[in-house]
Amino acid sequence: MSELILGIETSCDDTSIALVDRQGQIAAIKTVSQFEIHDAFGGVYPELASRAHLHAILPTIEDVMKDARIRPQDLKAIGVTRGPGLIGSLLVGLSTAQALSMGWNIPAYGINHLRGHLRSVELEEGKAEFPAVIMLVSGGHSLIAEMKNEWDYRLLGTTRDDSVGECYDKVARTLGFPMPGGPAIDKAAMRGTARIRLPRPMIKEGYEFSFSGLKSAVARHIEKEPDQNKDDMAAAFVASCMDVLSAKARRAIEECQPKSLIIVGGVSASPQLRETMQKIAQEYKINLSLPPIKWATDNGAMIAMATWDYIDRGIQPSLEPIPNLHLSTP
Ligand code: KG4
Ligand code: ZN
Repeated sequence: MSELILGIETSCDDTSIALVDRQGQIAAIKTVSQFEIHDAFGGVYPELASRAHLHAILPTIEDVMKDARIRPQDLKAIGVTRGPGLIGSLLVGLSTAQALSMGWNIPAYGINHLRGHLRSVELEEGKAEFPAVIMLVSGGHSLIAEMKNEWDYRLLGTTRDDSVGECYDKVARTLGFPMPGGPAIDKAAMRGTARIRLPRPMIKEGYEFSFSGLKSAVARHIEKEPDQNKDDMAAAFVASCMDVLSAKARRAIEECQPKSLIIVGGVSASPQLRETMQKIAQEYKINLSLPPIKWATDNGAMIAMATWDYIDRGIQPSLEPIPNLHLSTP
């Protein structure tokens, strides 16, 4: 059997545990989501999130180890998210990893969650090619960067306010859709028609994003006309997001002349975004790397996958939690 890493992800509201080999094959994975806990609050309630992680983490690790018929001594290492994320949630994963590392006598690496998303494109059959333009669009982040290789990156732009995923979630709430907001918006947008013209914030300028104005524009439309068709509204919202993300991606491709375009983070599960980016990659004749849809959102497999890079690069393991960890820091 090939060597496996145990990946632990608890940065936000998913307790996700996976066993992954060097080629990105997933031997077992289990994710316990907390949507039902947080739905009533209209967003993730940090203290309840850490309590739920504490309940779920050990039984989930046990299930995954049993599923793959793995004994602790068969593991190469443990990889656990150390940031960015909610401090209480991070601490549950980190202290569990620390205890297991001591008890099982294997190293535990604190992993940057954003690097996990980047490596999610390598899971299963995927391969990332460099130099690349990467776009990370999740609930916590929206950024675009140039990457010469796996470690050498240059930030081009980030968001001034809300992230794309956050905007999806808030618009979903305005439209009365349940959590998770992203998939609900995708489906509604497919049923609807983009009749209303919403703003395209900062489409003409550089690489920065700003999504809070778009979210407010949707809220104003709904306030003025509460009975309007929600599907059409979702379609108008998605059309605006796609136009903005496309403009930034094109600008970066023209400036950086990359071999590939890499799109990661929870919003990369959106079929509209996948199709939009596919067209751009074809037009510029470059590769497009996306994670398998089911591994676009937070999961332990991407954290395990990123751990291989830390081992190969000889990075000193650190289990220090860093809630606002940058992409540039391991
Ligand atoms: O990467 P992720 O799981 O967590 C963070 O690191 O933030 O991203 C979660 C975000 C949420 O805001 C969610 O609405 C969005 O990803 N998302 C989607 C879809 N699935 C999740 N957005 C659009 N379409 C989806 N299918
Ligand atoms: Zn994430």
